[in-house]
Amino acid sequence: MALLIKNGEIVTGDARYVADIWCEGETITRIDRDIPAPPGAEVVDAAGKFVFPGFIDPHTHIHLPFMGTLAKDTYATGTQAALAGGTTTIFDMCCPARSEEPAGGFETWKALAEDNACCDYSFHMGVTKFDGRTADQLRRIAGEGIQSFKIFLAYQGAFGIDDSELFQILHLARELGVITAAHCENAILVAELQKQLLAEGKTGPEWHHESRPPFVEAEGVHHLMTFAEATGAPVYIVHLSCQEALEEALRGRLRGVDVRIETLIQYLLLDKSFAERPDFEGAKFVMSPPLRHMDNQAVLWNALRQGQVDTVGTDHAPFDFQTQKPMGLADFTKIPNGIPAIEERVSLLYTHGVCNGNMDLHTFVNTASTNAARIFNLFPMKGTIQPGSDADLVVFDPAYRGKISVSNQVSTVDYNAFEGMEIQGRPEVVTLRGQVAARDGRFTGTPGRGKFLPRPLSRNT
Ligand code: URP
Ligand code: ZN
Ligand code: ZN
Repeated sequence: MALLIKNGEIVTGDARYVADIWCEGETITRIDRDIPAPPGAEVVDAAGKFVFPGFIDPHTHIHLPFMGTLAKDTYATGTQAALAGGTTTIFDMCCPARSEEPAGGFETWKALAEDNACCDYSFHMGVTKFDGRTADQLRRIAGEGIQSFKIFLAYQGAFGIDDSELFQILHLARELGVITAAHCENAILVAELQKQLLAEGKTGPEWHHESRPPFVEAEGVHHLMTFAEATGAPVYIVHLSCQEALEEALRGRLRGVDVRIETLIQYLLLDKSFAERPDFEGAKFVMSPPLRHMDNQAVLWNALRQGQVDTVGTDHAPFDFQTQKPMGLADFTKIPNGIPAIEERVSLLYTHGVCNGNMDLHTFVNTASTNAARIFNLFPMKGTIQPGSDADLVVFDPAYRGKISVSNQVSTVDYNAFEGMEIQGRPEVVTLRGQVAARDGRFTGTPGRGKFLPRPLSRNT
């Protein structure tokens, strides 16, 4: 198996130049000008195109039993949509219920992904309780190459943990050198505000954001910073949505907390007015933390440019509008939370980031690929283009013009939150470890070829 990508403009986190890329088997083995095409090699003409490292989504929920239902994707459908959109590696959230043991949860998620995932994957290990049996199991799971935990300071009674559990998890994470990803919202505040709104007869999706205002998220971030400071554990804030939360995170960073920050493509492009659409359409846009006032978008773009925010993910959590979102028809607190975006993230970030002057090409690559690989210990196997790296490549056509629509998406969810948005540029050819896996927005790869990526420990203290 040999692949030659010819004459593309290679763009990585810190370099930009025209060259050919020669891939043997699953690996990039040579980057040079005028590499001849040997007989039998597959040749991709990338003249006039960018060649980016395969994009990495640091936060997805492919398998997600949540709020009384199951997210729509399977590992096959979700990862085919990912590849069609240029994402070659995902970090999926393994989220066992509090009634389950972590080891059992991990086996369940791994078994579902194995032989089904079409792109490469790792997991963040959700720790949804901490008792006498948890530490040994987490040690074993970390030993299997899962060098990140995931915790929820929200979702009281479901995935949420209390402060004593938070302390113990971070303490163990520090000992193991594992980074902990955290959903930061004060669960008690959310529960009380929800009760108040419902008692006032405010039951529609337009009230979701009122139940989780920016101070709820800012308090969650402040809380995490305090516990991270107390334990010395490195942390990663998932789906940061607003200025208030950002300020708390930066304050923590200033006092020495080892904190990395993720925002989502949804927060950069959608605002709370989407969730206020009439006739329950707002339910399509219910996620947590909620979509914010649009003033926050400029703050987040600026933070990405400044390197304050490290990654742009999706928190892809697909629930059908026709059959699943209506679980909350009479009560917004029962609307399954999530806005799918695994397929759209790269083109939207390029269009609104690079084309609109919100970020340069290197920031685009860093925030959508390289930084996640570095933070979660996959670099330089993933997240860059250099000899020895996996041949995960995105030949990207900057001249493509199109519109996002549910009618032409690979994803199986029944709506698209970005419906009608214009796209400037898209992945034309996507390779996964040396094989073409998508062309022109369609999955063309080998079903089930995605590989579990055990991650080495690099944060040992
Ligand atoms: O609304 C969201 N974000 N749904 C997925 C679960 C989570 O909180 O990450
Ligand atoms: Zn979350
Ligand atoms: Zn999530």
